[in-house]
Amino acid sequence: MSLIFSGIQPTGNLHLGNYLGALRNFVRLQENNDCIFCVVDQHAITLWQDPAELRKSTREVAAAFIASGIDARKHILFNQSRVPAHAQLAWIFNCVARMGWLNRMTQFKEKAGKDRENASVGLFAYPNLMAADILVYKATHVPVGEDQKQHLELARDIAQKFNHDFGVEFFPIVEPIIQGEATRVMSLRDGSKKMSKSDPSDYSRINLTDTADTIALKIRKAKTDPHPLPDSIEELEKRPEADNLFGIFAALSDQTRQDVLAKYAGAQFSSFKQDLADLSVQVLGPIGAEMQRLTKDPGYVDQVLRDGAERANAMAKPILAQVEEIVGFLKP
Ligand code: AMP
Ligand code: TRP
Repeated sequence: MSLIFSGIQPTGNLHLGNYLGALRNFVRLQENNDCIFCVVDQHAITLWQDPAELRKSTREVAAAFIASGIDARKHILFNQSRVPAHAQLAWIFNCVARMGWLNRMTQFKEKAGKDRENASVGLFAYPNLMAADILVYKATHVPVGEDQKQHLELARDIAQKFNHDFGVEFFPIVEPIIQGEATRVMSLRDGSKKMSKSDPSDYSRINLTDTADTIALKIRKAKTDPHPLPDSIEELEKRPEADNLFGIFAALSDQTRQDVLAKYAGAQFSSFKQDLADLSVQVLGPIGAEMQRLTKDPGYVDQVLRDGAERANAMAKPILAQVEEIVGFLKP
C-alpha cells in the first residue's frame, strides 16, 4: 500500500492521451493504494486562462475523474487552489531548486516558445509547484504519462537537496509510475507530435466528450501510410502513425502491441481502423456520457471537490508545519 498523488490541469479538452496515460492507470491503482487526485488550477494559470473557462474546465476535469471510475469517497479528489499548503511549500521549493535545473526543463522550452522573455515566472517555476503538490503529502508514487518524467526527476532532486541542506530525512524520494502501452499517445494528424489539449486541430485528438460518430470520423481520417499493416515490431517502430494506432488499440483492449500485430499483420488500414473506432467508442462512450451527466450537476461536483479539499487540508497542514519548523520559521 503506497500513497499515490497525481494531477491534471484544467485547460481545455481532456483526450485519449490523458485517459490512457493517466486516468485509466489511476483507476487501477486506487484498488490497492491510498490516492490523492488533484485538478491543478494553479498550474493552469501559468498560461493565460479565461476565468469562466477555468471554472468550467475545473469542474469538467473533476467530472472526468469521477466518470472514469475514481471513488472520491474512499480517495481524495479536489482542486489545488483550495489547499494553500501547496503554494506555501512551493515557495520554499523556489528557494531550494536551482535556476540551472529549471532551465533544462523541456516542457518550459516548448510552452514558452521563442519568446522566453515574455513567459510568466509561474511557467518557469511550474515544476517546483508540482514537487510541492506531491511532497506536501509525502506521497511516494506518482502515476503520469511519459511527458512528466523530467518533472518528477526534478521533484526527486528537490527532495534530496532539501533533506541534505537541512540535514534531515524528511521528504521521500518519489517514484514515477509510467505504465501501459500508451504512455505517450501521439497526434492523429502527425505521428511525431504528442496528442495535446492545445493542438489547434480537433482532428489531432479524441476528446473524452466526443460522440461515437466523431470518434469514428477522427479515426477514419487519422494519418497513416500507404502500406498494408506491418507484420513485425521492428517494422512497426519505423512507422510512427501505425505504431501510435497499434499502441492505442493495445492499451484500449488491454493487450500488448505484439497481440495486436498477431491479429492484424498485413491487413489493410481500413478494416483495422473500423475495429479501432468500435473499440474506442465502447471504452470512451460510457465515460463521455457520464461526464455529460455530471456536467449538468455542478452542485454535486463542487461538493465532491470541497469535501476532498477539506480532507487534503487536514493531511497537508501538519506536514507543512513540520517543514516550516525545519526551515526555521517562527510559528505559530
Ligand atoms: P495534462 O493535461 O498536461 O495536465 O496531463 C495530465 C496527465 O495526462 C499527465 O499524467 C500527462 O502525462 C498525461 N498525458 C497528457 N498527454 C498525454 C499523451 N499524449 N499521452 C499520454 N499521456 C498523456
Ligand atoms: N504537470 C502535470 C501535467 O501537466 C500535472 C501535475 C501537476 C501533476 N502537479 C502534479 C502530475 C503532481 C503529477 C503530480 O500533466
